[in-house]
Amino acid sequence: MAWTEAHGGYWVLSDYASVFEAARDDELFTSRRLPEYGGDGLSVTIPKAQTSFHIPIELDPPEFRPYRKVVNKVTAPAAVAKLDAVIKKYVTAFIDEIIESGDADLAFVAGVPAAVTIDWLGLDASEYKLYVDAMHTLVSAPPGSPEYLHAQDVAVPWVTQTVKAHIAERRKNPTDDATSAFIEADLDGRKLTDEEIYSILELIISGGVGTTASLVTSALVWLYQNPTERQRLIADPSMVDIAVEEFLRVFSPTQALARTITRDAEFQGCPVRKGDRALLGWGSANRDPNQFENPDDVDITRWPNRHMAFGVGVHRCAGSHLGKAMAREMIRQILERMPDYEVDMDRVVAYPDQGTNAGYHSIPVTFTPGQRRGELLFAGKARD
Ligand code: HEM
Repeated sequence: MAWTEAHGGYWVLSDYASVFEAARDDELFTSRRLPEYGGDGLSVTIPKAQTSFHIPIELDPPEFRPYRKVVNKVTAPAAVAKLDAVIKKYVTAFIDEIIESGDADLAFVAGVPAAVTIDWLGLDASEYKLYVDAMHTLVSAPPGSPEYLHAQDVAVPWVTQTVKAHIAERRKNPTDDATSAFIEADLDGRKLTDEEIYSILELIISGGVGTTASLVTSALVWLYQNPTERQRLIADPSMVDIAVEEFLRVFSPTQALARTITRDAEFQGCPVRKGDRALLGWGSANRDPNQFENPDDVDITRWPNRHMAFGVGVHRCAGSHLGKAMAREMIRQILERMPDYEVDMDRVVAYPDQGTNAGYHSIPVTFTPGQRRGELLFAGKARD
């Protein structure tokens, strides 16, 4: 644990024990944006986020609990199991778009979590690209680039307007989608307001798209660079489940998140002060040699694997089952249908800022062309 003067000064928690303890101590390490703790925009990112307020990630117990209960109901393993067919459908469709050509940009995988999530919420999946632009391009494209500016000026306002209109529509005409489940949910004896539902949905869309894409792009580049391990997964696809846990550990799509200290105290021998900011490094904790043997080695059979890629404590990721289900299906199908993909490493583009989401914005590949398995769902648009 150390203090840095960067971004106005903050504590950096980098070892497993500190990150674990801090994430579980929400009384000392608040997730709230509280003006009295040194600013009205402090959030779970450093530098402070310009984004809107998100439920439940920016609440503390006890207020946090009923909201998380509602979210859990919608994202529980049983609910996600029902999405298996939807996940398979979109992974198949996205690969169908490129499989006959023999060349592609593997970054197309970012479209899958977007399409699955918005389909699940009852929104129009054919508009997935605008959600990718809004929720993923902002963290993956170089700031100031045409894609970045399009995301900022067009895609984000469009998503806000579309999701808000969708909530209003579902309030009048509920269906069996996840948005309707939030509308009908009971929050300690009352219904959620439209603003609360929007806040949750925006977090779900942004929380799921970038992270899952980050995980899968990192894994696919690593599997190209490690052909023996790639062959092992091709020969035995049942190994992918355990391998994904190791990819989560070693690539940690969400590298770090912040908290604010609520009172003067001593933590891990450091004099923390009320209002101090603290960055919890999930990614670095996941490579702590006191917790993981040979932490920098990627061992696709590592087990047990108590990584903290989904966080720890009350805020532990609500979408972990969904994120893993999507990642497994994408990796399995790509290895099955494009087993010999070759990455043009000279043209690979990493996200400009690896501190938010670590991963790749562009992964040009060539491979032996294969057969489509269905109709083109996006009429070729997924390649644009
Ligand atoms: C590989 C994929 C993913 C990774 C690595 C990841 C990572 C994380 C992390 C580290 C947190 C903890 C936040 C904190 O402690 O402040 C979190 C929270 C959260 N994630 Fe994920 N996430 C992933 C996928 C998803 C998906 C697919 C969804 C969509 C349902 C999702 C929704 C959420 C929500 C709603 C929270 C807030 C939970 C709370 O505050 O109680 N995540 N995620």
